[in-house]
Formats: sequence, C-alpha cells, structure tokens
Amino acid sequence: MRCVPRDLVSIADLDAKEIEAILDHGDRFWPMGDEPIKKLASLRGRTVINLFFENSTRTRTSFELAAKRLSAEAINITSSGSSISKGETLIDTARNLMAMHPDAIVVRHKYGGAAEVIRGSVRPAVAIINAGDGQHEHPTQALLDAATIRRHKGNIDGLEVVIVGDIAHSRVARSNILCLAKLGARIRVCAPWTLLPRGIEDIGGELTRERVRVVTRLEDGLENADVVMMLRVQAERFEGEAPRFPNARELSRTFGLSERTLAYAKPDAIVMHPGPMNRGVEISPQVADGSRAVILQQVSWGVAIRMAVLERAVLGDVPPS
Ligand code: CP
Repeated sequence: MRCVPRDLVSIADLDAKEIEAILDHGDRFWPMGDEPIKKLASLRGRTVINLFFENSTRTRTSFELAAKRLSAEAINITSSGSSISKGETLIDTARNLMAMHPDAIVVRHKYGGAAEVIRGSVRPAVAIINAGDGQHEHPTQALLDAATIRRHKGNIDGLEVVIVGDIAHSRVARSNILCLAKLGARIRVCAPWTLLPRGIEDIGGELTRERVRVVTRLEDGLENADVVMMLRVQAERFEGEAPRFPNARELSRTFGLSERTLAYAKPDAIVMHPGPMNRGVEISPQVADGSRAVILQQVSWGVAIRMAVLERAVLGDVPPS
C-alpha cells in the first residue's frame, strides 16, 4: 500500500505534538553522525529531488546527505543548470519533475509561497518540503534550531529566547517564532525599527501575541536570555528598497553580539546563528568561535532533523518513541 506523503511547507501546519515527534525522531538519527558507516535502508528505492533556485551551503548539502544516509536516490537541480533559465515556469518545472515519479521534492526559492504553489500543482502524490521560500518560512531550520536548543537546555518550555538582527527579511525568524512559541518559549525580537516588520508579534495569532515581545535596544533584548539567536542582514533581499541602516559598522556597534554585550544574557546562555555569518557585523569572531556558540552543532542537527523530515514525508507519520 502506498502511504500518503506528508508535506512540510510551514511550521504553522504543525502542532506542538507533531513538532516534538519530529524532534524525537531526529534524536534517533543524531548519533549516526559519529558512526563510521552512516547508512540506513528505510528509503531504499525512493527518490528525493532537491530543487534549489537560491544559493545554499547548509540546507542543500544536509538534505542531500540526509536522503543518501536513508538510502534514497538524491537528485540536485539548480536554476542555472535547469530549463528555468530558458523561461520555464516553476509550475511547469514541478509538473515535469512530477512526471518522473519522485517521492519528495525539496524546494528553495526566493519567492515566499513557492513551496505552496508547487504543493498546489502536484498534490497529492509527492511530498513537498520547503527548504526556504523568500522571506516567508524555513521550517526545517526552525526544527533543527529547536533540536539544538533541546540538546543544550533540556526543555524549551519557559525559555527566554532572543532573536536579533534583520527580522524584516528573515524566514528563519518567522519559522522560529512559530516553532518556539508552540513549544512554550518566550521570544524577544530585537532590531532597529527599520529591520522589524510591522505585526511580527501577530504571525501566529493569539499564541505569538502572548509570547513575542519587540525590543529595539540590544542590551534589553539580551537581558537574562537563555538563548541568543543572531541573524545576518539579508542584503540580497533589499533590492529597490531605501537603506534601512546607515552602514554595517553602525549596525555592528548598536546590534552586534560581542563578548561585552553577551554578558547581558544568562551566564549559561547559548549563542546560535543559522548561517551564513557575517563575522564582525552581527557577531564578533570571538563570540562565533567561543565556548557558548553552538553554531556548528546546528549544522550537524540539520542532517539528523532532515532525515526525520524526509522519512516522515515519504513514509508517513513519525513512529512513536
Ligand atoms: N541556514 C541556511 O539556510 O543556510 P544555507 O543558505 O547555506 O542553506
């Protein structure tokens, strides 16, 4: 019997129980990173297409590794190497790939809603996984971030998490706000007004209105935080916009994380960054490479969580722990 594919387009589609089930499932894959043979057979004979229309180092590599570690065939397509560059539409591209009967399509695109558009045009025979769509969402990043936080803090419920930086253009911030609020954290979003989208507290309705606070001074944002999540300025999304801050040096002086400003957070606070980092802008090299940074562990969790997401996508519900 062929199972029903399970898409992952938005964290908004998951409730806390489903999020925890994916995190628990990722926990089972985590030790595999240290094994000499990194191979399971659960997706043998299955096909995963990675359709990346925007550059990526971490997400694309980890989805490919995740698929291969589960024994799936992994095919990688980028915009420059595909017929998108000849004018083929996203929907036609998706329909043509669909005609080759993959089991899952992982998509990254600069337009918010791209994964949803593909889901609408190829459902229901293939699972669609959003690997980042414009400024909208990056659900697997939020899941791997939650897994990293759980690893270090045990429980997310009740934690104070601050997300600092270019919130306006950040799909990572949006997915993390939804995910962490569902898991019971309190979230501060911290940036100059010009990098804060209006209504960010409302993205998850009542839940996020209760749990999200906007802060416009770095020291206030960091005060007693358990988790500090730094974001880079997404200059590639500023096209045609008026400048939002004077220059990188000014932004670094007022909103950059340094050893001095990190002292406002709890002594055992962890420092996170989804990458890529702009060292010396949003985060100092001393903090990025310091003992409280878990930035490379986030990358390792990316493989384990994406294995869990792919298994869920192709095989259906995550088995109970
Ligand atoms: N965090 C993240 O999405 O990184 P990449 O753009 O390198 O995939």
